[in-house]
Amino acid sequence: MIEIATERLILRDWRETDLPAWAAINADPEVREHLGPVWDEARSAASIAHYQEAYRRNGFGFWAVEQRDSGELIGLAGIDPVEPEVPFEGVEIGWRLARSAWGHGYASEAARVVLEFGFQTVGLDEILAITLAGNVRSQAVMRRIGMTHAADLDFDHRETPDGEVFRHVVYRKRR
Ligand SMILES: CC(C)(COP(=O)(O)OP(=O)(O)OC[C@H]1O[C@@H](n2cnc3c(N)ncnc32)[C@H](O)[C@@H]1OP(=O)(O)O)[C@@H](O)C(=O)NCCC(=O)NCCS
Repeated sequence: MIEIATERLILRDWRETDLPAWAAINADPEVREHLGPVWDEARSAASIAHYQEAYRRNGFGFWAVEQRDSGELIGLAGIDPVEPEVPFEGVEIGWRLARSAWGHGYASEAARVVLEFGFQTVGLDEILAITLAGNVRSQAVMRRIGMTHAADLDFDHRETPDGEVFRHVVYRKRR
């Protein structure tokens, strides 16, 4: 079991009681603007099961992020192996917060302890971050936590053979 406290947040394992708040985050089109279609509650429930399973398998993954003052679940942060459709291997850092929790520095605060966990506890040599070129808020978090653009790793991804091409940018930080 993992529980890491920062000044304003707690990063911890997922609980069944997180589902309503987590589902509300994923049902928000603004949150999902660069991630794809909104999720229904069943999809959010399946994602929690997936994060728990991946954590058991890898010894790291995406944590629930709770606001210490309110005790509310405000999103996720963590590290995970890059998705199979990505043209290289590695471990990427990720974050997703409720719209109401943007603009407070929470993503960067969570991400800093995630990096520390990845480098110090897991022993990774490098952590990547991948996002759509248009997701400027996410790239701002990457820069704020000291990651640098690895332009040589940027890539295009096409969802279907004749579908739209999505430009992805990659940031990295080494231990
Ligand atoms: C990406 C995402 C997590 C970024 O959240 P964010 O709140 O912009 O990022 P930070 O936590 O770094 O907060 C920085 C902002 O908080 C402000 N801030 C306010 N109080 C602060 C404090 N005490 N400390 C630090 N920053 C503070 C900063 O000035 C900055 O404001 P700005 O955006 O106006 O420049 C959020 O937009 C999100 O969840 N998006 C949807 C999901 C998504 O796309 N995820 C990434 C997929 S790759």
